[in-house]
Amino acid sequence: MDIWSDLKAHHAAKSGRSILSLFEAPGRAEAFSRQSDGLLFDFSKTRIDEGALSLLLELARVSGVEARREAMFTGDKINETEGRAVLHTALRAPGGDVRVDGQNVIPGVLETRTRMAQFAQAIRSGEIAGSGGRYTDVVNIGIGGSDLGPAMATLALAPYHDGPRLHYVSNVDGAHINDTLQGLDPKTTLVIVASKTFTTIETMTNAETARAWMAAEVANPASHFAALSSATDKTAAFGIDPSRVFGFEDWVGGRYSLWGPIGLGLMIAVGPENFAEFLSGGHAMDTHFREADLADNLPVLLALVGIWHNQVEGHATRAVLPYDQRLSRLPAYLQQLEMESNGKRVAMDGSDLATDSGPIVWGEPGTNGQHAFYQLIHQGTRVVPCEFLVAAEGHEPGLAHHHRLLLANCLAQSEALMRGRSLEEARAIMAAKGLDGAELDRQARHRVFPGNRPSTTLMYRKLTPFVLGQVIALYEHRVFVEGVILGINSFDQWGVELGKELAKALEPVLSGDADGADKDGSTRALVAFAQSVRNG
Ligand code: F6P
Repeated sequence: MDIWSDLKAHHAAKSGRSILSLFEAPGRAEAFSRQSDGLLFDFSKTRIDEGALSLLLELARVSGVEARREAMFTGDKINETEGRAVLHTALRAPGGDVRVDGQNVIPGVLETRTRMAQFAQAIRSGEIAGSGGRYTDVVNIGIGGSDLGPAMATLALAPYHDGPRLHYVSNVDGAHINDTLQGLDPKTTLVIVASKTFTTIETMTNAETARAWMAAEVANPASHFAALSSATDKTAAFGIDPSRVFGFEDWVGGRYSLWGPIGLGLMIAVGPENFAEFLSGGHAMDTHFREADLADNLPVLLALVGIWHNQVEGHATRAVLPYDQRLSRLPAYLQQLEMESNGKRVAMDGSDLATDSGPIVWGEPGTNGQHAFYQLIHQGTRVVPCEFLVAAEGHEPGLAHHHRLLLANCLAQSEALMRGRSLEEARAIMAAKGLDGAELDRQARHRVFPGNRPSTTLMYRKLTPFVLGQVIALYEHRVFVEGVILGINSFDQWGVELGKELAKALEPVLSGDADGADKDGSTRALVAFAQSVRNG
């Protein structure tokens, strides 16, 4: 039997046991949780027992996680379908020697980081100003990895935000840029065009609209622009001065790019020192991931819990539930990180994947979600493994009672999911309310919680720049480990291409410049309806 079969057999043999009963063994909470640099990862409220954990660790070993990890950190071209190294870890390194094609990439990283810090500081201090004086607003135009990371992190680090206001525009829907620019003064607004390729249609369309908006009020609109891109020929063609272009190499994937130039907006918001702390947190997690034993390794354990829930227990989705309002964009960020990385049906060697691909990731912050979709999580027919994140302490000392309530709710949810409420307990509650007979039976059944629903909790003291760096790097490495175990290349994204090509071909059909005769009946009918209502 291979290790996957062993895992499934173990699961089948033990599936009758409840999660709560696993706590009858003393020390379960300690044995099924790990800490690193102030982060606590508790996976004791899952069905994973000693036997399952040792099989999962064996799975990681036989899948070659350790060798692949070293290959990533040392610059091997592990993104095989694109022939690229994967070195976002170099973006947060304090120094060192990491080679791609024989060339040490670190000096270039450090030089760009210094240029970014000088530019960010000059914007913050007013030394670089707009035609109307000090910049009050910065608009980052980008999409996917050139938006989700910096937007998520800028919100997450709001208590440290002492620079100009930051706005993130991503959607090609004109409503997004229209509504964002509406309240802004072009004379005191800096526009950052963030696009690795500088060809993404959404970003370039928004950038041109912003330039036209700027040109109406500013004599030299290009002087209000900066660019974050690898394509310096294209940034020059757009008219952006090379001194305001911050480039990165093809060994940084879009969804892993927050740590370098794509983080410029964040750096302007919170300042170079806080940004450096964020990088230190990421680097601390890199060191932990690279050096800790698999059995004590947070990213490895997070990945193994994910594999257990998705590929072994068969739960297709994973809910990410930050009890942290400032992490409200984390689920969207993780949707790209996890689903663009591991949502693939073909293995590295081109064969069909032997297991399911990575899970569907979704979520919202608590406690809001409790008043929305938690009903299904508690009583629906499908099991949704939940991943809670929460700080022990908030940033608002005067509102400590809010934080106590927040934390109490977070812990109560994982307890309720595991413990549930039996029919007997529900019957007793209904009897105490004076019900009896058939009505008691009927009402009690609605109040039963099956329980036995798995969750994990990631707890940290406070959401500082350092902790945010740790958490984001933790998820990045988790995705990497899951990808290695599934045999996936986590660093390409061919699945986004077809829709882009078809949209390009459809635009002239919608404008009436092409007939769309090659389109299917549904698409033709939808085009015809849009045209008819538009033309009155
Ligand atoms: O469409 C997917 C994608 O290529 C993402 O991987 C990437 O983060 C995003 O588009 C934006 O790409 P760019 O930074 O080149 O504009």
